[in-house]
Amino acid sequence: MGPIVRDYPGRGVIGVTRTGARWPRLAVVRIAVVRETREGETRVALVPELVGRLSALGYDVVVEPGAGERALLADAEYVAAGAGLDPDAVDGADLVVSVQPLDPGTVRRLRRGATTVSFLPVAQELGLVADLRDLGITSLAMELVPRISRAQSMDALSSQSLVSGYRCAVVAVGLLRRFFPLNMTAAGTVQPAEVVVLGAGVAGLQAIATAKRLGAVVRAYDVRAAAAEEIRSMGAKAIELDLETLDGAGGYAREMSEDRAARQRELLAPYIANADALITTAAVPGRTAPLLVEAATIEQMRPGSVVVDLAADSGGNVEGAVAGTIVRIGHAQVWGGRNVPSQMPGPASRLYAQNIVNLVTLLTRSGADADEGPSLDPDLDDEILAGACVTHDGVIRHEPTRLALEGDPAEDPA
Ligand SMILES: NC(=O)c1ccc[n+]([C@@H]2O[C@H](COP(=O)([O-])OP(=O)(O)OC[C@H]3O[C@@H](n4cnc5c(N)ncnc54)[C@H](O)[C@@H]3O)[C@@H](O)[C@H]2O)c1
Repeated sequence: MGPIVRDYPGRGVIGVTRTGARWPRLAVVRIAVVRETREGETRVALVPELVGRLSALGYDVVVEPGAGERALLADAEYVAAGAGLDPDAVDGADLVVSVQPLDPGTVRRLRRGATTVSFLPVAQELGLVADLRDLGITSLAMELVPRISRAQSMDALSSQSLVSGYRCAVVAVGLLRRFFPLNMTAAGTVQPAEVVVLGAGVAGLQAIATAKRLGAVVRAYDVRAAAAEEIRSMGAKAIELDLETLDGAGGYAREMSEDRAARQRELLAPYIANADALITTAAVPGRTAPLLVEAATIEQMRPGSVVVDLAADSGGNVEGAVAGTIVRIGHAQVWGGRNVPSQMPGPASRLYAQNIVNLVTLLTRSGADADEGPSLDPDLDDEILAGACVTHDGVIRHEPTRLALEGDPAEDPA
């Protein structure tokens, strides 16, 4: 039998020859991996070791040259793994994967019906969402993947929080001019560092685990009822305050009233004044980070103490913390986190890429015949994809974003 020839619209004619009993896969669905352009972003959405997973599904993977450079991944590694290199990788791509949202210029280069998968903080990117809608792009936001068991392998918020939490503890170790662990030596005993962690979600628990492994005495507080047990399971002491717990939907915290916030700050102050290192990781979805510590409390800390505020990028848990820099408040050095996963781009990219590959697998319908390639045919009724989908076929499917951009027709006086 001669070659099988197919005409794929917009791609010309593709011929596939039969070699022995095997049919080569027809890689016609093109996945583009972009080189990130936002300032400070060092991660990449796909790593060479996972290119093979997408090729095995039947995809044609094309990478913009230099995409992995800042994560120390060379173009040659992508090529060796089976990817192509193309500065115009997004042109004609069916699926574009990135860490940060695409810039508006890149979005305008996409073909109608293309799909994008990236972080997409919709509330801050309303203009981009409007473009994605108007250009008929299907966009999926990694932070909107529902946090259900089936989606755990696609949960990029968790994978990147793991990196941030570890990094926060290591930053504290690096800045603190004393030992974390207890040392009993012939020259005398060195007491361990006292560390307080506020916010014990994914990042906070990882910061606790890391500080514990390094031998510090760790105390932690979180507003959620389940948190005390989680803190203790990491070997830390749970700070118990005489305050109501604040559990919201989906396992997240609820926002505090101003009265409760003031009382919490007051009750936590003695723990903080006594700490060598304070690490804050508290967040409430869709809100700016809660203010947990006033500058006056930091001023009570001893000379040489260190504060690490992971939430500095999103409003700050610590008054006076500045994202991306270290400031001095009283005797303390206060480090404000900015895009913290980018400080460990290798592992952060690997974990993110694994989340992406798992999501792409869910988006893919495999060909019915061996000679048929996969198709990008997302079932948008699937709970995971329904949650993550922001725009599709000219419509904004994420309701809060649609309301923010288009309003509620029921309220239209006309
Ligand atoms: N697939 C899943 O089921 C899944 C996945 C990830 C996380 N989770 C759970 O969701 C929860 C939070 O996850 P996250 O880390 O992404 O949350 P997050 O980043 O939104 O918040 C970080 C932490 O800050 C805490 N916090 C908020 N306000 C606070 C305050 N005023 N004082 C002290 N702490 C405060 C929150 O309770 C949370 O633990 C955890 O229980 C986690 O186990 C579940």
